[in-house]
Amino acid sequence: MSILEVRDIHKSFGGNRVLKGVSFSVKEGEIVGIVGPNGSGKTTLMNIINGVIRQDKGSILLMGKDISSLRPSGRAKLGMGRTFQITRLFSNLTVLENVLIPLHYGSPLPATEETAIEIIEAVGLSHKIRDRAGSLSLAQRKRLELARAIALKPKVLLLDEVFAGLNPVSIREIVELLLKLNREKGITLILVEHVLKALFKLTRRVLVLSEGRLIFEGSPEGMVKDPEVIKAYLGERYLKDESA
Ligand SMILES: Nc1ncnc2c1ncn2[C@@H]1O[C@H](COP(=O)(O)OP(=O)(O)OP(=O)(O)O)[C@@H](O)[C@H]1O
Ligand SMILES: [Mg+2]
Repeated sequence: MSILEVRDIHKSFGGNRVLKGVSFSVKEGEIVGIVGPNGSGKTTLMNIINGVIRQDKGSILLMGKDISSLRPSGRAKLGMGRTFQITRLFSNLTVLENVLIPLHYGSPLPATEETAIEIIEAVGLSHKIRDRAGSLSLAQRKRLELARAIALKPKVLLLDEVFAGLNPVSIREIVELLLKLNREKGITLILVEHVLKALFKLTRRVLVLSEGRLIFEGSPEGMVKDPEVIKAYLGERYLKDESA
């Protein structure tokens, strides 16, 4: 059965038609990648799936239930987690406090320091537990953003460019962490990503969004050979990166 169903989503901002009928479904326990050029509507699609913005047309189903009219907090309670392309942390609070907040508000997990510490260990931030979020590096802020999403015990986790700006070591560590979350906790992962090398270590199924429409759905191997995907997204940049 599908854990998530996205049905014919349309969205315009003023006269700008950003999503033009996007439909796909994700099975429980799957890892799916969504890629596409800048401005193709990926973040808008994530925002619609978790309820940050409302679609003009279409619906979102979580475990068969239409959640289109719920706010993000209501969707989170049903198991929809999310990290943001631009991290949304409380800079003046410590790492521990940043994780305790979602544990206190809306998580089925016990809102104890012990739970928070366990999650912080899982994302590799134990050594920063008493540091203010504002003092963290980009890679550490991304780990903390992930910890805050995990604290809500999601069934489906949406990740918007979790690898952007990270060095290869951090990327490898976060790939391992995500694989562990998927295997051990059964969390379904949907990743919007430009770092294809990392994405392809995680997923066997990729969707390509271009100008608000899905132009490809299939394996990474199929994707990199698809003429329309090469034209719309990969172009010379990818071919150059791969030969480097
Ligand atoms: N709140 C908004 N108001 C008006 N226009 C918006 C808004 N959010 C997004 N857009 C427009 O929608 C289009 C798609 O943006 P979106 O952020 O979804 O793209 P993206 O695929 O995530 O790009 P990137 O890879 O750069 O993150 C862009 O033209 C953007 O300017
Ligand atoms: Mg985006």
